[in-house]
Amino acid sequence: VTHGVERTRQDIVRTLLNGLRRLEYRGYDSAGIAIDDALTDPSGNRSALVIKSPGTVAILEAQVWQTLTNEPDFSVSTHVGLAHTRWATHGAPSVVNSHPHSSGPGHEFLVVHNGIITNYAALREVLLKKGFPFESDTDTEVVAKLLAHLYNELCGSETPSEALSFPRLVMLLMHELEGAYALIIRSQHFPGEVVACKRGSPLVMGMATAAQAADMSSPQGSPHHEYLSGDGGGSSRSLDSLPTQIPSSGMKGGLLRRTPRRDPSIYQVAQVGLETELPRGFSFHPASPRTNGRPARESEQRCELFFASDASAIVEHTRQVVVLEDSDVVHVDSDGEVDVFSFMDEGVQRAVTQTRALITLDFELEQIMRGNFDHFMLKEIFEQPDSLVSTMRGRFQASTRTVHLGGLRERLADILRSSRLIFVGCGTSYNAALACRHLMEQLTELPVAVELASDFLDRRCPIFRSDVCFFLSQSGETADTLDALRYAKQRNALTVGVVNVVGSAIARLTDCGVHLNAGCEIGVASTKVYTSQIVAMVMIGLLLSADRLSKAARRAEIMDGLARLPEQVRRVLQMDDVLRDIACTQLCRATSILLFGRGFHYATCLEAALKIKEVSYVHTEGIHAGELKHGPLALVDEEMPIVLFAMRDDCYDKVKNALQQVLARGGSHRMIVVCCEGDEDEFRRAGVSTVLAVPPAVDCLQVVLGIIPMQLIAYHMAVARGLNVDQPRNLAKSVTVQ
Ligand code: G6P
Repeated sequence: VTHGVERTRQDIVRTLLNGLRRLEYRGYDSAGIAIDDALTDPSGNRSALVIKSPGTVAILEAQVWQTLTNEPDFSVSTHVGLAHTRWATHGAPSVVNSHPHSSGPGHEFLVVHNGIITNYAALREVLLKKGFPFESDTDTEVVAKLLAHLYNELCGSETPSEALSFPRLVMLLMHELEGAYALIIRSQHFPGEVVACKRGSPLVMGMATAAQAADMSSPQGSPHHEYLSGDGGGSSRSLDSLPTQIPSSGMKGGLLRRTPRRDPSIYQVAQVGLETELPRGFSFHPASPRTNGRPARESEQRCELFFASDASAIVEHTRQVVVLEDSDVVHVDSDGEVDVFSFMDEGVQRAVTQTRALITLDFELEQIMRGNFDHFMLKEIFEQPDSLVSTMRGRFQASTRTVHLGGLRERLADILRSSRLIFVGCGTSYNAALACRHLMEQLTELPVAVELASDFLDRRCPIFRSDVCFFLSQSGETADTLDALRYAKQRNALTVGVVNVVGSAIARLTDCGVHLNAGCEIGVASTKVYTSQIVAMVMIGLLLSADRLSKAARRAEIMDGLARLPEQVRRVLQMDDVLRDIACTQLCRATSILLFGRGFHYATCLEAALKIKEVSYVHTEGIHAGELKHGPLALVDEEMPIVLFAMRDDCYDKVKNALQQVLARGGSHRMIVVCCEGDEDEFRRAGVSTVLAVPPAVDCLQVVLGIIPMQLIAYHMAVARGLNVDQPRNLAKSVTVQ
């Protein structure tokens, strides 16, 4: 949204397409864009251009520039543009199913949406009866049509701004919608205005003035985030990267408003219901031409606002963002004034203020650039020596053998009093939880359950207030994990987040937690976050056992191991050429691969299998080595590639038994063993064709060293098979739908 900034149409298109490229990792089966006034008819009248296309952003981009070739470029100072990249939920990837969705041929309303409207079928039924034709199979199209319907019903021929404001119309819409959504809406009835709202799906608003944009090159400190204890109740929940929040005041007439003479980075938001008049007059404008009645300086008048599902789309324009809360409705009017309302379904007559903080992002653009690497996945694999250091920085001190986790400090006593720990996650985050269960049981002597978020919810797992539930998530937005968190909170369990993305829903909703500080992860297949999750969980285990004398020796050996870990990871990465060779010659043409391990390495098997499946599409199964004789042995023959994790731990001898069982069935021919340095000869002598040795480490940290060769093998297999590693088919980085 541009106000008071001279921009050419080309600038606007470039900004939108670039934003899409940054978000493409969230979904990439189709994309679309809507630009105001971009088309000119023979009489010189301009109309909106809407282009949608299945496939990547690059395909859309080519079409956009081709369409605009013969159109004259022009400058505007007020403009609303929309763009969207999709991960299909309802309806296959196609032109009609792509966003933006329109209320009809004249684009009375245009909508982009992240989430799922669960009652779309019923709404569609009603709208069909009202005479609205539908062209797509999506849930989102009902949003555009419903807006047109509500508008027609309520406004008729009256002047819209008098009869019904744009945010009020959107609140009426929200009243009808069920499910999860972040929506950005523009309308021909409200030129120059935009409304964005959210429930359940992430949405950030970035604000850039000329001065802020000029400041973008200034160096920032390295990212480091701790949780602060909070009430877990949304808006007043804070991370330590946020400024201290002021208490709610009884301000009348609510909206996003810079609170005078207090912290300038805190804004107030009124809760409003359907029956409440929307107040006006205290709007926040980051560069208002009406600044205190005096003429604004030129730099103050220039303002651009960005709305996006995550900050990576925004960070090259501004680092000043507001992370919006569920039920927030943001209205940008035709002067660029911004109001934020918190919408309550049930009407309230009294405005209740809450706060939103303007935060300064501290991530660098290069974090979301590939640099010299061919793919984000490879870059992120190679970042692990540094990302692990970041996870430990300021928390683990090797010289004094101490662990300090600021985000858990206030709730540590409560965690220690608990009767059970439950780890909840999906995909890679689940595997990371599994990799740490054994150690956590050892150190805390508490029962530890590891749960897939979806299964936890399906079973409505019994939860008690004496339980502590840990929610592991890279994105902090995964719908299943988020729902499991809400479920645990309803049952009064203490909730702990182990999350990478600062300001994400899980980070804000949990009572306390630990940020991974692994840096931005773009590759759909999670790599560096997996190892950071393990290290964060190990540190949590160390903290929880700090007062146990009986664990002192064990704790000391783990801490010494943590200190050595980044350097050992660096050494494993030096095996890259060998691993590429194995991937290309032994594995990339396989139709099926089996991975065996037990103890700590059961998780390594599952995670390695997930990596190979995700990016190379080869069927791969991670199997507990203890289960081998109960079925999987039937799959073993001379042709089946098998990977066995045989590293020095309590299960070492049992794993070697499993090896013998496999070898006895002719499985040596295509056998790969991952072991500790020094043990190579033993496996070679046993007839294993390929032995990969990693530096020996304390048992619970070998999961970090064991997975890295498999991350690289998965990567090289996918490249050898000619696949798009960073955008595997049918997957998305952040799954914000159930
Ligand atoms: C998606 C991704 C997986 C990821 C899982 C959990 O399915 O494709 O790579 O492991 O979500 O994501 P989270 O952000 O909660 O760790």
